[in-house]
Amino acid sequence: MIIQENYSLKKLNTFGIDASAKYFATISNTDEFKEILSEESFNDIPKLILGGGSNLLFTKNFDGIVLKNNLKGITLVKENEQQVYIKASAGEVWHEFVMYCINNNYAGLENLSLIPGCVGASPMQNIGAYGVEIKDVFYELEALNVKDLSLRTFTNTDCKFGYRESVFKRELKNQYIITSVTFKLNKTPNFNTSYGAIEQELEKMGVKELNIQAISKAVCAIRSSKLPNPEEIGNAGSFFKNPEVSKNKFEQLKSKFPNIVGYELENGNVKLAAGWLIEQCGWKGKTLGDAGVHKLQALVLVNYANASGNEIYDLSEKIIASVKQKYDVALEREVNIV
Ligand code: FAD
Ligand code: EPU
Repeated sequence: MIIQENYSLKKLNTFGIDASAKYFATISNTDEFKEILSEESFNDIPKLILGGGSNLLFTKNFDGIVLKNNLKGITLVKENEQQVYIKASAGEVWHEFVMYCINNNYAGLENLSLIPGCVGASPMQNIGAYGVEIKDVFYELEALNVKDLSLRTFTNTDCKFGYRESVFKRELKNQYIITSVTFKLNKTPNFNTSYGAIEQELEKMGVKELNIQAISKAVCAIRSSKLPNPEEIGNAGSFFKNPEVSKNKFEQLKSKFPNIVGYELENGNVKLAAGWLIEQCGWKGKTLGDAGVHKLQALVLVNYANASGNEIYDLSEKIIASVKQKYDVALEREVNIV
Protein backbone atom coordinates (compact mmCIF):
# COMPACT_ATOMS: atom_id res chain seq x y z
CA MET A 1 0.00 0.00 0.00
CA ILE A 2 1.47 3.32 -1.09
CA ILE A 3 0.54 6.59 0.58
CA GLN A 4 0.83 9.53 -1.78
CA GLU A 5 0.88 13.22 -0.86
CA ASN A 6 -0.90 16.19 -2.49
CA TYR A 7 -2.71 13.83 -4.79
CA SER A 8 -4.98 15.21 -7.55
CA LEU A 9 -8.62 14.10 -7.29
CA LYS A 10 -9.67 15.69 -10.60
CA LYS A 11 -10.00 12.36 -12.41
CA LEU A 12 -11.55 10.68 -9.36
CA ASN A 13 -14.72 12.78 -9.12
CA THR A 14 -17.33 12.85 -11.89
CA PHE A 15 -17.79 16.63 -11.53
CA GLY A 16 -14.14 16.88 -12.64
CA ILE A 17 -13.36 19.37 -9.88
CA ASP A 18 -9.70 20.21 -9.56
CA ALA A 19 -9.11 19.40 -5.88
CA SER A 20 -6.35 17.46 -4.17
CA ALA A 21 -5.96 15.23 -1.12
CA LYS A 22 -3.23 15.83 1.43
CA TYR A 23 -2.75 12.05 1.57
CA PHE A 24 -4.14 9.36 -0.73
CA ALA A 25 -4.08 5.57 -0.77
CA THR A 26 -5.80 2.85 -2.76
CA ILE A 27 -7.08 0.07 -0.50
CA SER A 28 -7.41 -3.47 -1.86
CA ASN A 29 -8.49 -5.49 1.19
CA THR A 30 -9.93 -5.08 4.68
CA ASP A 31 -6.57 -5.66 6.36
CA GLU A 32 -5.12 -2.66 4.52
CA PHE A 33 -7.99 -0.54 5.85
CA LYS A 34 -7.21 -1.80 9.36
CA GLU A 35 -3.49 -1.17 8.90
CA ILE A 36 -3.94 2.43 7.82
CA LEU A 37 -6.61 3.21 10.41
CA SER A 38 -4.37 1.97 13.21
CA GLU A 39 -1.44 4.16 12.16
CA GLU A 40 -1.01 6.76 14.85
CA SER A 41 -0.09 9.56 12.46
CA PHE A 42 -3.49 9.22 10.76
CA ASN A 43 -5.50 8.99 14.00
CA ASP A 44 -6.76 12.53 14.20
CA ILE A 45 -6.92 13.62 10.59
CA PRO A 46 -10.11 13.62 8.49
CA LYS A 47 -10.75 10.52 6.38
CA LEU A 48 -12.79 10.23 3.20
CA ILE A 49 -13.77 6.90 1.68
CA LEU A 50 -13.94 7.26 -2.07
CA GLY A 51 -15.85 5.03 -4.47
CA GLY A 52 -16.46 6.31 -7.99
CA GLY A 53 -16.68 9.95 -6.83
CA SER A 54 -20.07 10.31 -8.54
CA ASN A 55 -21.98 11.79 -5.62
CA LEU A 56 -19.44 14.25 -4.26
CA LEU A 57 -18.67 17.93 -4.73
CA PHE A 58 -15.22 19.06 -3.59
CA THR A 59 -15.37 22.72 -2.55
CA LYS A 60 -11.78 22.73 -1.27
CA ASN A 61 -8.71 20.53 -1.13
CA PHE A 62 -9.16 17.63 1.29
CA ASP A 63 -6.95 18.22 4.31
CA GLY A 64 -6.76 14.58 5.37
CA ILE A 65 -6.47 11.12 3.86
CA VAL A 66 -8.61 9.90 0.98
CA LEU A 67 -8.96 6.12 0.89
CA LYS A 68 -9.99 4.84 -2.54
CA ASN A 69 -11.96 1.68 -1.98
CA ASN A 70 -10.75 -1.00 -4.37
CA LEU A 71 -12.09 -4.13 -2.65
CA LYS A 72 -13.05 -6.63 -5.36
CA GLY A 73 -14.97 -9.90 -5.55
CA ILE A 74 -18.45 -11.30 -6.17
CA THR A 75 -19.68 -14.51 -4.51
CA LEU A 76 -22.86 -16.52 -4.36
CA VAL A 77 -23.45 -16.88 -0.63
CA LYS A 78 -26.55 -19.10 -0.60
CA GLU A 79 -29.58 -19.95 -2.67
CA ASN A 80 -32.95 -21.64 -2.52
CA GLU A 81 -35.55 -22.39 -5.17
CA GLN A 82 -36.60 -18.77 -5.56
CA GLN A 83 -33.66 -16.64 -4.47
CA VAL A 84 -29.92 -16.15 -4.74
CA TYR A 85 -27.90 -14.16 -2.23
CA ILE A 86 -25.02 -12.42 -4.00
CA LYS A 87 -22.26 -10.70 -2.05
CA ALA A 88 -20.26 -7.98 -3.81
CA SER A 89 -17.20 -6.26 -2.43
CA ALA A 90 -17.49 -2.51 -2.01
CA GLY A 91 -15.03 -1.58 -4.78
CA GLU A 92 -16.92 -3.43 -7.52
CA VAL A 93 -18.19 -1.01 -10.16
CA TRP A 94 -21.98 -0.79 -9.76
CA HIS A 95 -23.04 -1.12 -13.40
CA GLU A 96 -20.60 -4.00 -14.02
CA PHE A 97 -22.09 -5.78 -11.01
CA VAL A 98 -25.62 -5.16 -12.32
CA MET A 99 -24.58 -6.62 -15.69
CA TYR A 100 -23.03 -9.65 -13.96
CA CYS A 101 -26.38 -10.31 -12.23
CA ILE A 102 -28.37 -9.81 -15.43
CA ASN A 103 -26.08 -12.13 -17.39
CA ASN A 104 -26.61 -14.81 -14.73
CA ASN A 105 -30.39 -14.23 -14.76
CA TYR A 106 -30.46 -12.96 -11.19
CA ALA A 107 -33.33 -10.49 -11.24
CA GLY A 108 -33.93 -7.35 -9.21
CA LEU A 109 -31.21 -4.86 -10.17
CA GLU A 110 -32.12 -4.30 -13.83
CA ASN A 111 -33.95 -1.01 -13.17
CA LEU A 112 -30.79 0.28 -11.48
CA SER A 113 -28.64 -0.17 -14.60
CA LEU A 114 -26.10 2.49 -15.57
CA ILE A 115 -25.96 4.31 -12.22
CA PRO A 116 -22.32 5.42 -11.84
CA GLY A 117 -20.22 4.56 -8.81
CA CYS A 118 -19.31 1.54 -6.73
CA VAL A 119 -21.22 -1.10 -4.79
CA GLY A 120 -20.00 0.22 -1.42
CA ALA A 121 -21.68 3.59 -1.86
CA SER A 122 -24.99 2.15 -3.06
CA PRO A 123 -26.51 1.77 0.44
CA MET A 124 -25.16 5.16 1.58
CA GLN A 125 -28.03 6.99 -0.06
CA ASN A 126 -30.21 3.97 -0.91
CA ILE A 127 -29.69 4.56 -4.63
CA GLY A 128 -32.83 4.46 -6.69
CA ALA A 129 -34.15 4.79 -10.21
CA TYR A 130 -37.13 3.80 -12.32
CA GLY A 131 -39.27 2.56 -9.45
CA VAL A 132 -36.65 0.50 -7.57
CA GLU A 133 -34.42 1.34 -4.61
CA ILE A 134 -31.55 -0.63 -3.10
CA LYS A 135 -33.65 -1.33 -0.03
CA ASP A 136 -35.96 -3.51 -2.17
CA VAL A 137 -33.17 -5.99 -2.96
CA PHE A 138 -30.80 -5.43 -0.05
CA TYR A 139 -30.08 -8.34 2.31
CA GLU A 140 -27.19 -7.17 4.51
CA LEU A 141 -23.86 -5.37 4.47
CA GLU A 142 -20.57 -5.63 6.29
CA ALA A 143 -18.80 -2.54 7.54
CA LEU A 144 -15.64 -1.74 9.43
CA ASN A 145 -15.82 0.55 12.43
CA VAL A 146 -13.17 3.25 11.86
CA LYS A 147 -12.46 3.64 15.60
CA ASP A 148 -12.27 0.12 17.07
CA LEU A 149 -11.78 -1.71 13.72
CA SER A 150 -14.54 -4.22 14.50
CA LEU A 151 -16.61 -5.64 11.63
CA ARG A 152 -20.37 -5.28 11.95
CA THR A 153 -23.22 -6.74 9.91
CA PHE A 154 -26.09 -4.37 9.17
CA THR A 155 -29.52 -5.73 8.23
CA ASN A 156 -32.04 -3.83 6.12
CA THR A 157 -33.69 -2.44 9.30
CA ASP A 158 -30.32 -1.42 10.78
CA CYS A 159 -29.60 0.70 7.69
CA LYS A 160 -32.73 2.85 8.26
CA PHE A 161 -33.18 3.34 4.52
CA GLY A 162 -35.29 6.25 3.31
CA TYR A 163 -35.53 8.24 0.08
CA ARG A 164 -31.83 8.86 -0.75
CA GLU A 165 -31.10 8.28 2.96
CA SER A 166 -29.55 5.76 5.33
CA VAL A 167 -28.08 5.61 8.81
CA PHE A 168 -24.64 6.13 7.20
CA LYS A 169 -25.59 9.64 6.08
CA ARG A 170 -27.05 10.47 9.51
CA GLU A 171 -26.30 9.00 12.95
CA LEU A 172 -23.36 6.88 11.80
CA LYS A 173 -21.84 9.41 9.38
CA ASN A 174 -18.08 8.83 8.91
CA GLN A 175 -18.11 6.00 11.47
CA TYR A 176 -18.14 2.96 9.17
CA ILE A 177 -16.45 1.80 5.99
CA ILE A 178 -18.77 -0.45 4.00
CA THR A 179 -16.71 -3.43 2.82
CA SER A 180 -19.35 -5.60 1.11
CA VAL A 181 -23.04 -5.67 0.31
CA THR A 182 -25.22 -8.78 -0.08
CA PHE A 183 -28.28 -8.62 -2.31
CA LYS A 184 -31.28 -10.95 -2.31
CA LEU A 185 -32.15 -11.51 -5.96
CA ASN A 186 -34.85 -13.55 -7.68
CA LYS A 187 -34.48 -16.54 -9.96
CA THR A 188 -37.92 -15.77 -11.41
CA PRO A 189 -38.20 -12.06 -12.13
CA ASN A 190 -40.92 -9.72 -10.89
CA PHE A 191 -40.81 -7.18 -13.69
CA ASN A 192 -41.18 -3.56 -12.70
CA THR A 193 -42.05 -1.46 -15.73
CA SER A 194 -44.52 0.86 -14.04
CA TYR A 195 -42.23 3.90 -14.16
CA GLY A 196 -43.40 6.16 -17.00
CA ALA A 197 -41.02 5.91 -19.89
CA ILE A 198 -40.01 2.22 -19.52
CA GLU A 199 -43.12 0.78 -21.23
CA GLN A 200 -42.79 3.27 -24.10
CA GLU A 201 -39.11 2.48 -24.54
CA LEU A 202 -39.77 -1.29 -24.56
CA GLU A 203 -42.40 -0.75 -27.23
CA LYS A 204 -40.01 1.36 -29.26
CA MET A 205 -37.44 -1.44 -28.98
CA GLY A 206 -40.05 -3.91 -30.29
CA VAL A 207 -39.78 -6.18 -27.23
CA LYS A 208 -42.45 -8.90 -27.44
CA GLU A 209 -41.47 -11.06 -24.48
CA LEU A 210 -40.39 -9.17 -21.40
CA ASN A 211 -37.07 -10.11 -19.77
CA ILE A 212 -34.55 -8.44 -17.46
CA GLN A 213 -32.05 -7.86 -20.28
CA ALA A 214 -34.65 -5.84 -22.19
CA ILE A 215 -35.59 -3.79 -19.12
CA SER A 216 -31.92 -3.00 -18.50
CA LYS A 217 -31.47 -1.91 -22.13
CA ALA A 218 -34.58 0.28 -21.94
CA VAL A 219 -33.39 1.92 -18.72
CA CYS A 220 -29.93 2.53 -20.24
CA ALA A 221 -31.50 4.11 -23.33
CA ILE A 222 -33.75 6.45 -21.32
CA ARG A 223 -30.91 7.47 -19.02
CA SER A 224 -28.51 8.12 -21.91
CA SER A 225 -31.13 10.30 -23.63
CA LYS A 226 -31.37 12.83 -20.81
CA LEU A 227 -28.55 12.48 -18.31
CA PRO A 228 -25.16 13.94 -19.27
CA ASN A 229 -22.33 11.42 -19.50
CA PRO A 230 -19.76 12.51 -16.85
CA GLU A 231 -16.96 11.59 -19.24
CA GLU A 232 -18.19 14.38 -21.51
CA ILE A 233 -19.72 16.90 -19.07
CA GLY A 234 -18.85 16.89 -15.37
CA ASN A 235 -21.84 16.20 -13.09
CA ALA A 236 -23.02 14.11 -10.15
CA GLY A 237 -26.54 13.20 -11.28
CA SER A 238 -29.43 14.89 -9.48
CA PHE A 239 -27.94 17.68 -7.40
CA PHE A 240 -31.08 18.05 -5.25
CA LYS A 241 -33.66 15.65 -3.85
CA ASN A 242 -37.26 15.81 -4.98
CA PRO A 243 -38.92 17.64 -2.05
CA GLU A 244 -41.83 16.18 -0.10
CA VAL A 245 -44.72 18.49 0.86
CA SER A 246 -48.08 17.95 2.59
CA LYS A 247 -51.20 17.33 0.51
CA ASN A 248 -52.49 20.67 1.73
CA LYS A 249 -49.41 22.55 0.56
CA PHE A 250 -49.60 20.75 -2.78
CA GLU A 251 -53.24 21.80 -3.27
CA GLN A 252 -52.29 25.42 -2.54
CA LEU A 253 -49.43 25.26 -5.04
CA LYS A 254 -51.62 23.57 -7.65
CA SER A 255 -54.24 26.29 -7.48
CA LYS A 256 -51.55 28.85 -8.25
CA PHE A 257 -49.44 26.71 -10.61
CA PRO A 258 -51.83 24.24 -12.30
CA ASN A 259 -49.06 22.40 -14.19
CA ILE A 260 -46.94 21.63 -11.14
CA VAL A 261 -45.64 18.02 -11.20
CA GLY A 262 -46.19 15.92 -8.04
CA TYR A 263 -46.62 12.26 -7.13
CA GLU A 264 -48.72 11.17 -4.17
CA LEU A 265 -46.83 9.08 -1.62
CA GLU A 266 -48.14 6.26 0.59
CA ASN A 267 -47.97 8.55 3.65
CA GLY A 268 -50.39 10.99 2.00
CA ASN A 269 -47.72 13.62 1.26
CA VAL A 270 -46.75 14.62 -2.26
CA LYS A 271 -43.28 14.42 -3.83
CA LEU A 272 -42.66 17.37 -6.13
CA ALA A 273 -40.47 17.12 -9.23
CA ALA A 274 -37.57 19.41 -8.31
CA GLY A 275 -36.55 19.48 -12.00
CA TRP A 276 -39.88 21.12 -12.83
CA LEU A 277 -39.55 23.73 -10.05
CA ILE A 278 -36.02 24.61 -11.17
CA GLU A 279 -36.98 24.76 -14.83
CA GLN A 280 -39.95 27.03 -14.06
CA CYS A 281 -37.63 29.40 -12.22
CA GLY A 282 -35.82 29.82 -15.53
CA TRP A 283 -32.64 27.92 -14.70
CA LYS A 284 -32.68 25.14 -17.28
CA GLY A 285 -29.70 25.48 -19.64
CA LYS A 286 -28.34 28.55 -17.79
CA THR A 287 -24.63 28.95 -17.14
CA LEU A 288 -22.67 31.01 -14.62
CA GLY A 289 -19.09 30.86 -15.83
CA ASP A 290 -18.29 27.17 -16.37
CA ALA A 291 -20.98 26.05 -13.90
CA GLY A 292 -24.41 25.36 -15.32
CA VAL A 293 -27.81 23.73 -15.19
CA HIS A 294 -28.10 20.95 -17.75
CA LYS A 295 -30.19 21.77 -20.79
CA LEU A 296 -32.14 18.49 -20.79
CA GLN A 297 -32.50 17.88 -17.03
CA ALA A 298 -32.74 20.88 -14.72
CA LEU A 299 -32.03 18.75 -11.63
CA VAL A 300 -28.49 18.12 -12.84
CA LEU A 301 -25.82 20.77 -12.27
CA VAL A 302 -22.83 20.55 -14.57
CA ASN A 303 -19.21 21.59 -14.90
CA TYR A 304 -18.65 22.54 -18.54
CA ALA A 305 -14.88 22.88 -18.18
CA ASN A 306 -13.02 24.36 -15.24
CA ALA A 307 -15.69 25.37 -12.73
CA SER A 308 -14.56 25.21 -9.11
CA GLY A 309 -16.57 23.34 -6.50
CA ASN A 310 -17.49 26.69 -4.96
CA GLU A 311 -18.88 27.98 -8.26
CA ILE A 312 -21.14 24.92 -8.51
CA TYR A 313 -22.08 25.34 -4.86
CA ASP A 314 -22.89 29.06 -5.33
CA LEU A 315 -25.10 28.18 -8.29
CA SER A 316 -26.94 25.66 -6.09
CA GLU A 317 -27.46 28.36 -3.43
CA LYS A 318 -29.02 30.67 -6.02
CA ILE A 319 -31.31 27.90 -7.25
CA ILE A 320 -32.40 27.07 -3.69
CA ALA A 321 -33.15 30.76 -3.05
CA SER A 322 -35.24 31.23 -6.20
CA VAL A 323 -37.28 28.02 -5.67
CA LYS A 324 -37.90 29.11 -2.07
CA GLN A 325 -38.99 32.56 -3.20
CA LYS A 326 -41.33 31.42 -5.96
CA TYR A 327 -42.85 28.29 -4.37
CA ASP A 328 -41.92 28.50 -0.68
CA VAL A 329 -40.39 25.02 -1.03
CA ALA A 330 -36.99 24.16 0.45
CA LEU A 331 -34.71 22.15 -1.83
CA GLU A 332 -32.22 19.85 -0.13
CA ARG A 333 -28.96 18.84 -1.78
CA GLU A 334 -28.52 15.18 -2.61
CA VAL A 335 -24.83 15.43 -3.46
CA ASN A 336 -22.32 15.16 -0.57
CA ILE A 337 -20.46 18.46 -0.14
CA VAL A 338 -16.82 18.06 0.93
P1 FAD B 1 -18.78 8.41 -4.02
O1 FAD B 1 -19.21 9.63 -4.73
O2 FAD B 1 -17.37 7.99 -4.14
O3 FAD B 1 -19.14 8.57 -2.47
C1 FAD B 1 -20.41 9.04 -2.07
C2 FAD B 1 -20.45 9.08 -0.55
O4 FAD B 1 -20.38 7.78 0.00
C3 FAD B 1 -19.27 9.83 0.07
O5 FAD B 1 -19.71 10.47 1.24
C4 FAD B 1 -18.28 8.73 0.39
O6 FAD B 1 -17.38 9.08 1.43
C5 FAD B 1 -19.22 7.62 0.81
N1 FAD B 1 -18.72 6.28 0.55
C6 FAD B 1 -18.37 5.78 -0.67
N2 FAD B 1 -18.02 4.49 -0.55
C7 FAD B 1 -18.11 4.17 0.76
C8 FAD B 1 -17.85 3.00 1.53
N3 FAD B 1 -17.42 1.88 0.95
N4 FAD B 1 -18.05 3.05 2.86
C9 FAD B 1 -18.49 4.18 3.46
N5 FAD B 1 -18.73 5.33 2.80
C10 FAD B 1 -18.55 5.32 1.46
N6 FAD B 1 -27.95 8.08 -7.80
C11 FAD B 1 -29.16 7.47 -7.66
O7 FAD B 1 -29.56 7.11 -6.55
N7 FAD B 1 -29.96 7.25 -8.74
C12 FAD B 1 -29.62 7.61 -9.99
O8 FAD B 1 -30.36 7.38 -10.92
C13 FAD B 1 -28.36 8.25 -10.17
N8 FAD B 1 -27.95 8.67 -11.39
C14 FAD B 1 -26.76 9.29 -11.55
C15 FAD B 1 -26.40 9.69 -12.83
C16 FAD B 1 -25.18 10.33 -13.05
C17 FAD B 1 -24.80 10.76 -14.44
C18 FAD B 1 -24.30 10.54 -11.96
C19 FAD B 1 -22.97 11.19 -12.19
C20 FAD B 1 -24.67 10.16 -10.67
C21 FAD B 1 -25.92 9.52 -10.45
N9 FAD B 1 -26.33 9.11 -9.17
C22 FAD B 1 -27.54 8.47 -9.02
C23 FAD B 1 -25.50 9.40 -7.99
C24 FAD B 1 -24.38 8.35 -7.74
O9 FAD B 1 -24.11 7.62 -8.88
C25 FAD B 1 -24.73 7.40 -6.59
O10 FAD B 1 -24.95 8.11 -5.40
C26 FAD B 1 -23.61 6.36 -6.35
O11 FAD B 1 -24.06 5.37 -5.47
C27 FAD B 1 -22.34 7.00 -5.79
O12 FAD B 1 -21.33 6.01 -5.80
P2 FAD B 1 -19.80 6.36 -5.73
O13 FAD B 1 -19.06 5.07 -5.57
O14 FAD B 1 -19.42 7.19 -6.90
O15 FAD B 1 -19.76 7.20 -4.38
N1 EPU C 1 -38.91 17.71 -14.99
C1 EPU C 1 -39.05 18.95 -15.59
N2 EPU C 1 -37.92 19.58 -16.06
C2 EPU C 1 -36.70 19.02 -15.98
C3 EPU C 1 -36.55 17.76 -15.36
C4 EPU C 1 -37.68 17.12 -14.87
O1 EPU C 1 -40.14 19.48 -15.69
O2 EPU C 1 -35.75 19.66 -16.43
C5 EPU C 1 -40.11 17.02 -14.49
C6 EPU C 1 -40.85 16.28 -15.58
O3 EPU C 1 -42.23 16.48 -15.38
C7 EPU C 1 -40.55 14.82 -15.31
C8 EPU C 1 -40.34 14.81 -13.80
O4 EPU C 1 -39.77 16.09 -13.51
O5 EPU C 1 -41.61 14.02 -15.68
C9 EPU C 1 -39.43 13.71 -13.32
O6 EPU C 1 -38.21 13.75 -14.06
P1 EPU C 1 -37.29 12.45 -14.26
O7 EPU C 1 -38.14 11.27 -14.64
O8 EPU C 1 -36.16 12.82 -15.14
O9 EPU C 1 -36.79 12.15 -12.82
P2 EPU C 1 -36.25 13.07 -11.64
O10 EPU C 1 -37.31 13.13 -10.61
O11 EPU C 1 -35.75 14.35 -12.18
C10 EPU C 1 -35.33 11.05 -10.29
C11 EPU C 1 -34.08 10.74 -9.54
C12 EPU C 1 -33.01 10.24 -10.49
C13 EPU C 1 -33.51 8.98 -11.19
C14 EPU C 1 -34.80 9.31 -11.94
C15 EPU C 1 -35.44 8.08 -12.55
C16 EPU C 1 -34.02 12.11 -7.56
C17 EPU C 1 -33.42 13.29 -6.89
N3 EPU C 1 -33.61 11.88 -8.81
O12 EPU C 1 -35.03 12.16 -11.13
O13 EPU C 1 -31.85 9.91 -9.73
O14 EPU C 1 -32.56 8.46 -12.09
O15 EPU C 1 -35.75 9.90 -11.02
O16 EPU C 1 -35.98 7.28 -11.53
O17 EPU C 1 -34.82 11.41 -6.97
C18 EPU C 1 -29.82 10.79 -8.84
O18 EPU C 1 -30.26 10.50 -7.73
O19 EPU C 1 -28.69 11.29 -9.02
C19 EPU C 1 -30.65 10.53 -10.02
C20 EPU C 1 -30.26 10.83 -11.26
